[in-house]
Amino acid sequence: MISTRLLGDPIIRDHNFWSLSLPENYNFRSEAAQCLLEWQEKSPATWLITGVAGFIGSNLLETLLLAGQNVRGLDNFATGHQENLDEVRKNVDEESWSRFLFIEGDIRDVSSCANAVEGVDHVLHQAALGSVPRSLADPLTTNQVNINGFLNMLDASRLSQVKSFVYAASSSTYGDEPNLPKREDRIGSPLSPYAVTKYVNELYAEVYARSYNFKAIGLRYFNVFGPRQDPDGAYAAVIPKWTAAMIADHEVVINGDGETSRDFCFVANAVQANLRATISPQSSHGEVYNVAVGDRTTLNELFLALKESLGELQIHYAKEPKYMDFRAGDVRHSQADISKAREKIGYEPTHHIRDGINTAMSWYVQNLRDRAE
Ligand SMILES: NC(=O)c1ccc[n+]([C@@H]2O[C@H](COP(=O)([O-])OP(=O)(O)OC[C@H]3O[C@@H](n4cnc5c(N)ncnc54)[C@H](O)[C@@H]3O)[C@@H](O)[C@H]2O)c1
Repeated sequence: MISTRLLGDPIIRDHNFWSLSLPENYNFRSEAAQCLLEWQEKSPATWLITGVAGFIGSNLLETLLLAGQNVRGLDNFATGHQENLDEVRKNVDEESWSRFLFIEGDIRDVSSCANAVEGVDHVLHQAALGSVPRSLADPLTTNQVNINGFLNMLDASRLSQVKSFVYAASSSTYGDEPNLPKREDRIGSPLSPYAVTKYVNELYAEVYARSYNFKAIGLRYFNVFGPRQDPDGAYAAVIPKWTAAMIADHEVVINGDGETSRDFCFVANAVQANLRATISPQSSHGEVYNVAVGDRTTLNELFLALKESLGELQIHYAKEPKYMDFRAGDVRHSQADISKAREKIGYEPTHHIRDGINTAMSWYVQNLRDRAE
């Protein structure tokens, strides 16, 4: 079993697993796996990852399998892909893969949630319909999945007496709060149905923590990016969407003047935050934490960074971006204060945006070339 005394354990603390200096050929998954291996003390736990076929979920899966854990995954493939699971299978050995049980199911279905969570120690709840524009186009489905589905998972987890429930919250909860950097205790009015759903998740989790002494922790992700993030579809996130466009030599569209800014967070940081939150001490429960780098990059800067990173891989993109209208529901600037996560769960981002872009870029180039062949 993973020990809950770990953050206070000087032996563990002294191991700088999340070192900021990146060795050559740095592999973030094996580093995270190493971290868990030390923690588990030869007695693996059973984890449930909802949304396991998605971008963040499949990165969590790979890390946990490499760390010798038993993992169950729940997904209905609404936005996730079998290819993400296939890729994890390729990246781990047969023994690791044999510790994974996939359940195809929908979090809107109470009994699917109850079955999935039975006998589980730790839940990492990632399943949701992401995207602000999707929620504006179809608020009802977003509500059913992100609120009803969330509550189904939260309650099934409570009834099953899991040891911890760490869930994907969102920086969209800051809404129109104008101050930077964003601090967890200062939020504004939500700017989209998606933001409403993610805020309601936090309210439920807080009430469950208080009323049932249930260990729920929310991670407010800020624009996570990295390998396996979907570049396709109308609701694709900006980094994979632009990268795919650049590789195909298509036009890149910037919504607004390009001075909109975001705290882009490489997926290795989000994986680390999930593991840190799971093993964090009692005093950190029932709270939400920003998961980001604490930096700010404008869309114009991002465009240049992606172009440069592709250039290093001998793909030279010469087109200028096309500027269009601002998108409804989008926040103008976003930058996190990560001091709360640092202090209370021991989170320390290992990847700044350029480290992440370079790692993700190799994956995108390889992956999109594979698809074209
Ligand atoms: N990627 C980001 O920048 C970001 C930022 C803030 C919050 N988040 C949150 O993080 C989580 C993971 O996001 P992601 O980027 O990996 O997205 P993703 O779309 O790649 O993953 C979501 C997964 O949930 C699954 N899913 C959706 N509806 C489901 C349902 N009804 N039942 C079962 N499974 C269902 C999808 O099929 C998919 O595999 C989401 O909760 C999202 O809202 C992501």
